[in-house]
Amino acid sequence: MKILRFLLIILFYFIISIQNTIADEAKMLKGLEIFNETAACAGCHTMKAAGAEGNVGPNLDTVAGLTVESVIDMVTHGLGVMPAYGEEEILTPEEIEIVSTYVVNSAGK
Ligand code: HEC
Repeated sequence: MKILRFLLIILFYFIISIQNTIADEAKMLKGLEIFNETAACAGCHTMKAAGAEGNVGPNLDTVAGLTVESVIDMVTHGLGVMPAYGEEEILTPEEIEIVSTYVVNSAGK
């Protein structure tokens, strides 16, 4: 019976890891949609992974040191012509977190 318990544990971790992968992919797809459509970040920023070629703001592929926190901060409060998506309630805090995670994982790729 020990072997059965071992196999069940392996199966359990396998299912959890598949679920996490699916959740991560769904989040990245949602992030892409927000980037290109809901928030139209693509209108101002270049980012190859999203097929974005805007040139009002900096090219996100070449900005160094982006972190999820720094992008959340920028998207929430804006700067200059960059809209304050959080303060102006254009995006929900959850959408801001999703698009920021998407940008950090896609920029430069
Ligand atoms: C109307 C044009 C416009 C839109 C739309 C826009 N941005 Fe920006 N963004 C800018 C400009 C301009 C700057 C530079 C601001 C400055 O430094 O004065 C900027 C800066 C940034 C930065 C900081 C880059 C750095 O140099 O550190 C990030 C990250 C960013 N934008 C992400 C986004 C995301 C994500 C979205 C969509 C949710 C978005 N932007 C939508 C114009 C825009």
